[in-house]
Amino acid sequence: MSAEDLRNRPIGIFDSGVGGLTVASEVMRLLPGEHIVYFGDVGRSPYGGRSKETIIAFTRQDINFLLEHNVKYIIAACNSASAAALETVMKEYDIDMLGVIEPGARAAVGYTRNNRVGIIGTKATIASDAYAEAIQRRNSQVKVFSLACPLFVPLVEEGYIEKEATSMIARDYLKTLIDVDIDTLVLGCTHYPLLKAVIGKVMSEAVCLVDSAEETAREVAAVLSLKNMLRPSGDNATRKFYVSDVPDWFSQVAHQFMGRNISSITRVDITRY
Ligand code: DGL
Repeated sequence: MSAEDLRNRPIGIFDSGVGGLTVASEVMRLLPGEHIVYFGDVGRSPYGGRSKETIIAFTRQDINFLLEHNVKYIIAACNSASAAALETVMKEYDIDMLGVIEPGARAAVGYTRNNRVGIIGTKATIASDAYAEAIQRRNSQVKVFSLACPLFVPLVEEGYIEKEATSMIARDYLKTLIDVDIDTLVLGCTHYPLLKAVIGKVMSEAVCLVDSAEETAREVAAVLSLKNMLRPSGDNATRKFYVSDVPDWFSQVAHQFMGRNISSITRVDITRY
């Protein structure tokens, strides 16, 4: 295949559901000329409370689906899948992939001044220790404090972003991180950037919040440019969205994550892959 053909192929992005739309949205903003194929495993979401084995099995199916769309590059936009499955699954495929952990970890190491970094995420992400390992691989002096905040995902999906109940839960979860004097906090879950204001208020303004979605999109742009894989023409970029279920709340929540409506969504049977 010629280099020209490869560059014209879409970027594949997958997530356990709607959360990865934060990553897709950033990729679309930075690389508006790229064709995008997004798969959200809405029917089997959330991944964050599942076992490593199950997340690995689901991740393989998500990737197999994207490969059928002839993608040139795959972004695991889900922290739980990136943390629990990507290292295992990456070795099985002959295509470049990037998860959200490495870009988030790199940014945290760059931002911290006192070498004390907090990580918040789902139970699966925190149990994997993937962020802590990625940070310490870059700088072993950095002390990492990890904390699962499982209630944040349903709160965001229920639209509880500005409610007092959410602030109370955030204060309760995050108090252990306040006590250990971190200066950088990685929002290690696709949903947490939507709670930036609440988390920022609880943690104090001095704490730098790292948004893995933004960091990942920046890294994808840099990697594709370096590898000469960017689409040469910026015209008529297509964005295709596929999901494994379309519940009633889908378009509203998707709008919350993307800041815009998704015009066409196709439902697929992911168990076939
Ligand atoms: N996308 C997931 C993550 O970033 C959050 C939702 C879930 O648990 O599936 O970890």
